[in-house]
Amino acid sequence: MIQVCFVCLGNICRSPLAEGVFKSLVAKEGLEDRISTASAGVGSWHIGEPPDARMMKTAHKNGIVLNSRARQFQKNDFRNTDLILAMDESNLQALEQMSPSLDARQKLFLFRSFDQEHQGDLNVPDPYYGGEGGFDHVFEIVDRTCPRILKFIKDRSEL
Ligand code: 4NP
Repeated sequence: MIQVCFVCLGNICRSPLAEGVFKSLVAKEGLEDRISTASAGVGSWHIGEPPDARMMKTAHKNGIVLNSRARQFQKNDFRNTDLILAMDESNLQALEQMSPSLDARQKLFLFRSFDQEHQGDLNVPDPYYGGEGGFDHVFEIVDRTCPRILKFIKDRSEL
């Protein structure tokens, strides 16, 4: 089983959306028994909470149901996870600081490094303190990037 984990700051907006969109793609391709998908936050403020209502609304109108509960990424998670996708550069930095080994660091990637339209901006913008439009923008980025990540995994693992 290949374990994928999306990581943002609070685990209530960006990474739950990425988890939901990616899970839906994996299901569409019938790969649920090969790829397991999770998400986590580097922060602890929202542990146990469902995704932000605004993120759930945006997901829902695009046919994606979010059902995660926020959790904080733990050092131990490096051991069980094959691919860790940081939603922005500060999340990546926090994960790098937590990583116990070179082997662990090699599991880390920036989510938008797979976005063919990143135009030099490798951060999925944090929508938490902004308006509704920010959530739609996050959806667009996540929706076009998840298929590239799945392709990367399939190519690498010969799925
Ligand atoms: P996320 O958004 O990292 O995409 O889940 C945030 C949610 C909450 C906070 C920051 C970002 N916060 O500071 O509480």
